[in-house]
Amino acid sequence: MKIRPGVRRIAKAPGKQADGAGKRRKQTGGSKFKSTTESQRLISRYHTLLKLEAAAQKENRPEDAEKYALEREALGGIDSYQKASIFGESTQQNGEFSSSAWVLKDIESRTEQRTDTPLRLLDVGCVVDHYATTPVSADCIDLNPQADGIIKADLIEYLPGARAVYDAVVLSLCVNFEGDAQKRGRMLAKAATLTRPGGRIYLVLPLACVSNSRYMKHGRIVAMMKALGCGDHSVTKTSKLAMYIFTMGEEGCSGDPTRVFPRKLCRGGAQRNNFCIILDGGEGDDNG
Ligand SMILES: C[S@@+](CC[C@H](N)C(=O)[O-])C[C@H]1O[C@@H](n2cnc3c(N)ncnc32)[C@H](O)[C@@H]1O
Repeated sequence: MKIRPGVRRIAKAPGKQADGAGKRRKQTGGSKFKSTTESQRLISRYHTLLKLEAAAQKENRPEDAEKYALEREALGGIDSYQKASIFGESTQQNGEFSSSAWVLKDIESRTEQRTDTPLRLLDVGCVVDHYATTPVSADCIDLNPQADGIIKADLIEYLPGARAVYDAVVLSLCVNFEGDAQKRGRMLAKAATLTRPGGRIYLVLPLACVSNSRYMKHGRIVAMMKALGCGDHSVTKTSKLAMYIFTMGEEGCSGDPTRVFPRKLCRGGAQRNNFCIILDGGEGDDNG
């Protein structure tokens, strides 16, 4: 799959028409943050509140859930969270990782040639569209778009018109953003249904989600993705991140997407975190 320099990015397709979720917002990049310590603090607290809120909802503690939701709003809501992400990226102080650079490097390294059609990519949880000036044809979606060209959509409900439409689906630091373990699993399942046989899913998680969680470890992620139809995989671990590339198996030799992966203790210890992904055997497509 060779990227041809000079191939122009084609119009966004097919998501806009199919899911009716094509609302756009203006760029709102102006920052209220003075330092990355400040922006990181907000990001970290926001993640914690999302998890607490999801747990409170699951455990039928609506008052607690509301309390956490109110604190998120008091922090400025998802808008502030995303501005903090954009600020961090702009300062380059925590910008050693660029998911698009990593993804594009992998795509370029592939030997498969597709010179007639630009590669079709879905970037999920896209705060800044880094693919706009590249030769791939990218659909970028986010729950709360911060820039023109990013489609407002939830991956779990996203209907781009057909199954297996993408050559590549990128889930960079967005599965861990979701506070609900079952919804995280649904995001993975949906990504698998949207990726064509032989296509790739790029999954980036904070390393602690697989290396220091009570409920998640590397082998379990791989087993889940296998059940969802992935064949080969590779993983690169940095001091902060686990970066997976999964290749979807060919049609007919897929896994078992109905297989259930419940919450299961993988390792004990007081210093562990509770990150978890649950596969409930659903198809990852809430819209049938
Ligand atoms: C930390 S940012 C990730 C930014 C970027 N992908 C990166 O690698 O730096 C997480 C983003 O994921 C988005 N997100 C989380 N769950 C999502 C979902 N189900 N569908 C679409 N976007 C989602 C959030 O709105 C948020 O903007």
